[in-house]
Amino acid sequence: MKRLYTIELATKLADRVYEYWIRAPQVAQHARAGQFIILRLHEKGERIPLTISAVRGDTVRVIFMTVGKTTEELATLGAGDSISDVVGPLGKPSEIADYGTCCVIGGGVGIASTPLIAKELKDAGNHVIGIIGARSADLLILEDEMEEICDELYVTTDDGSKGVHGFAADVLKKLLEERKIDRVWIIGPAIMMKVTSGVTVPYGVKTYVSLNPIMVDGTGMCGSCRVTVAGETKFACVDGPEFDAHQVDFAELMQRQRIYTTQEKESLERFAE
Ligand code: FES
Repeated sequence: MKRLYTIELATKLADRVYEYWIRAPQVAQHARAGQFIILRLHEKGERIPLTISAVRGDTVRVIFMTVGKTTEELATLGAGDSISDVVGPLGKPSEIADYGTCCVIGGGVGIASTPLIAKELKDAGNHVIGIIGARSADLLILEDEMEEICDELYVTTDDGSKGVHGFAADVLKKLLEERKIDRVWIIGPAIMMKVTSGVTVPYGVKTYVSLNPIMVDGTGMCGSCRVTVAGETKFACVDGPEFDAHQVDFAELMQRQRIYTTQEKESLERFAE
């Protein structure tokens, strides 16, 4: 079968975390912050969504962690290999405007989404504060890049091995006590987005989260990415993936993320055999 999308550069960033630059001119030309692609490794492959983390010429960057069969298989590829399908850019772009002071927060592999959002906010005239956090220093990614883009950058680690010992939520709370912040973006695991966005509620600061439900088609047809926002059913792939954090039903999101845990485990075990 003809494979169309070449991996130009493949780098391991941290334990189980990889950065791929994929040649996809059509996607690169139209990609905006907050959007994603869906890729399929080969004709028998499953479709997985990955955030567009950066764009350079005709290539787009994705950063992923090996969490299941497809990401494990993706990690076996390297520069020069190609993948069968890359569809995108999908989803609505981030709502970028000149708000004043904006905070862009990434947790774990969710940090992958932050440079493009931070850069577009900066280009729009905002003062941009970045907060990136990970469990430990060796899992922190894109620190130099965010340092370059943001006006201020704070680093946190759960174990205190680098930066502030604690969570992004702690830094955000302190910042909100000290000064006015106009908009906040949070990208990371669902529980991290739930907890961190709770910090902005008393301050009434509009806060966006990028939701990561299971996706299949990415075009609003299959319903697998269904989420509830402000009591209404939304499809993350076409209505999001960014939503008003204070309106998201995180409990439902986390419950739906776990629906196929058994099958995902079986699939990974079969792949590893
Ligand atoms: Fe199918 Fe969103 S992924 S409707």
